[in-house]
Amino acid sequence: MAEATFNFPKGFLWGTATAAHQVEGQNENNNWYAWENEPGRIHNGDKAGLACDWWNGRWQEDLSNAARAGQNAHRFSIEWSRIQPDANTWDEKALEKYREMIQGMKKLGMEPMLTLHHFSDPLWIYNQGGWENKDTIDHFIKYVRYAINGLKDLVDFWVTINEPAVYTVGGYLGGGFPPGKNDLGQAYNVLSNLIKGHAAAYHVIHEIQPDAKVGIAKQYRAMAPSRHWFPPDRWITRFSSKSFNDAFMGPIIDGNFRFAFKKEHIPQAIGTQDYVGINYYSQDQIRFKPLAFDAVFQERHFLPDAQLSGTGFIANVPEGMRAALKWAHQFNLPIYITENGVEDTQDTMRPAYLLEHLRKVWDAANSNWQVKGYFHWSQVDNFEWERGWSQRFGLWGIDPKTQERTHRTSADLYGAICTENGISSDTVRKYAPEMLDKLFPG
Ligand code: GAL
Repeated sequence: MAEATFNFPKGFLWGTATAAHQVEGQNENNNWYAWENEPGRIHNGDKAGLACDWWNGRWQEDLSNAARAGQNAHRFSIEWSRIQPDANTWDEKALEKYREMIQGMKKLGMEPMLTLHHFSDPLWIYNQGGWENKDTIDHFIKYVRYAINGLKDLVDFWVTINEPAVYTVGGYLGGGFPPGKNDLGQAYNVLSNLIKGHAAAYHVIHEIQPDAKVGIAKQYRAMAPSRHWFPPDRWITRFSSKSFNDAFMGPIIDGNFRFAFKKEHIPQAIGTQDYVGINYYSQDQIRFKPLAFDAVFQERHFLPDAQLSGTGFIANVPEGMRAALKWAHQFNLPIYITENGVEDTQDTMRPAYLLEHLRKVWDAANSNWQVKGYFHWSQVDNFEWERGWSQRFGLWGIDPKTQERTHRTSADLYGAICTENGISSDTVRKYAPEMLDKLFPG
């Protein structure tokens, strides 16, 4: 008998999150494949290659491990370029393969949460300007209609677009994603088209499936002024948070889109989310830099005493998860943590990171906020975009060359939490004893 347990609400969804291009392998008809083949674009010249070999069926092994470890849901994405390899072709076989995968998930007792767009665009879309081109909205909607019609008997939990702000910063504000531009005007245009694509997708999904649950996986980046006493730091922090965290949500609240000193009314976006999906990873401290034109007048750093991940990409700031939940709570809708995790090949930081972040999720759920589920990024190491294979986010490790999986302690820790629907002192003592006093002070 455990001495103490943080119990989560009944019916809480526990899962991991993945994305098609990062796990499937052999995705050779999208913009990321093209990007990986341009010299100097990906860390170390890495390629997704076979990724985690899910397209050949290796999802069975990874999802069986997940289900055995108590997970009752899985968030994943389907690849637009497989379903619609060019403007006039629909690949029924690809759709059928996704149906098999979803049926497999359900047999394992996992509720599927399906993302329709997770960073990658078909090459034919990319070659006509991607989301810079407003015609992409109509193409996206045709694809969404086809996918929903083909999968509606299996799925009713949808994410339209993953992290639109990260997609925009990545591709249009020098963030290392295709097409590698640094152009604020184009960033505005892309984000505006993504909002319109999301809003149209929301309406199409509800037209076909009235009871569907539809939302966005929104990355919430916590931000705090570097020097609280210095008003310019507070101003630039507020400006950055509004641009990154709130720009996409404004239209959903009242139709008003504001980004990069421009604005637009998008009334069709009002009310287009049935839940709030949050991806939370870390917090930045922001300092005003009047001459840093290219960096939008700022310099970012992590809290000086924060624990940092292997490549210094993530600082462990659980308070930021609290801020993310508070931000999500304003919408008065069910909240799902659609991603949260840390890159940590040695699995030395992940147990503490996981426990401390889940403790914040528990706080929110037990303050009667509508927190309904948590998806850890990720079940198994996978291809981390412009960072290639240099960052390992998996509960399980992988050798991409041999496809051999190795089991990390965090897989057992998370498994015990999912199975118990709570964090017990016994579990912490067993898998992360160093955290016992912090979580259960005597
Ligand atoms: C998110 C993204 C995921 C994954 C994760 C960890 O921004 O949605 O696909 O890459 O970061 O880096």
